[in-house]
Amino acid sequence: MRVFSGIRASGDKTLGNYSGGFRQYVRTQEEALAASGEAVFCVVDMHSITTPFEPEVLREATLSVFAWLLATGLDPDRSIVFVQSHVPAHSEGAWLLGSVTAMGELRRMTQFKDRAEEQDFVSAGLFNYPVLMAADILLYDTDVVPVGDDQRQHVELTRDLAERFNQRFGETLVVPRGVYPDEGARVKNLQEPERLMSTTRGAPAGVVRLIDEPDVIRKKFKTAVTDSGREVKHDPEEKAGVSNLIEIMAVSTGASIAEIESRYDAQGYGQFKEDVGEAVVALIEPFRRRYNELRADDAELAATMRRGADKAAEISNVTLARMYERMGFVRA
Ligand code: TRP
Repeated sequence: MRVFSGIRASGDKTLGNYSGGFRQYVRTQEEALAASGEAVFCVVDMHSITTPFEPEVLREATLSVFAWLLATGLDPDRSIVFVQSHVPAHSEGAWLLGSVTAMGELRRMTQFKDRAEEQDFVSAGLFNYPVLMAADILLYDTDVVPVGDDQRQHVELTRDLAERFNQRFGETLVVPRGVYPDEGARVKNLQEPERLMSTTRGAPAGVVRLIDEPDVIRKKFKTAVTDSGREVKHDPEEKAGVSNLIEIMAVSTGASIAEIESRYDAQGYGQFKEDVGEAVVALIEPFRRRYNELRADDAELAATMRRGADKAAEISNVTLARMYERMGFVRA
């Protein structure tokens, strides 16, 4: 069984990215290994250039996301962790798949329509984004793609392209299955608990960055917004701030919501907020240290990327060669 997932390179990482992203990748890795399978994680830097971007930002974001993946628990010795642009098979595979992709089906992609609307300059790359994503997946004979619900249409297209390729050129590609895991607690901004925690929007004082020092984190939790009551009770409608803190406590310690509620029963919010802050520090401080170690030596990080790319290329080159062969390309 092979599992494949693509991770976008983007800016500063938060506790929200940990809960909905990094934590899930580690779980995927362990599940795949337990089933005697293999998990492949790809930082999809080539997808980053489909919307406006800055070269320096792309470079830093790629290094940073790769380091966070390792720092939070992906193991480059047991899984394959690599950067998309290091394996040329991805762009070649996308080109080949373009021949079995209809303009009409790309035009129907809702993500394309949404993104295109936001921009003055709509690149051909943005239009072709789903074809590159299909190549990412299909080149690894992937069985399972764990991915956010917003990617459902892209995974369905990938399945259609694999089937069409197989019909046209003979059995060549494995038709993958999307799984859409519950992404876990959707962590909210500590100051504005009605909006998701994000570095691009919302009060900075309510955003916990994975790179924050322990004292900065403690302060952000001490000043987190709650309500005028004193009950530690999970009720997202009426008590958005407290509910968010309970969910963060659950993510950080593994305790259930009910356990947390009964532990802090009628004690007021002060101690609770302090304890959530400590739990978060205990969770992410080891990640931060590891991240800083990894980033202290970008050459070593690049060597780890290289090893991942070599392992990835070994698999994807076989699939790519099969595609070329079946399509009638002369191989020399
Ligand atoms: N489009 C995905 C996203 O926005 C990222 C991605 C690119 C991906 N290639 C992939 C995800 C292959 C899973 C498999 O999240």
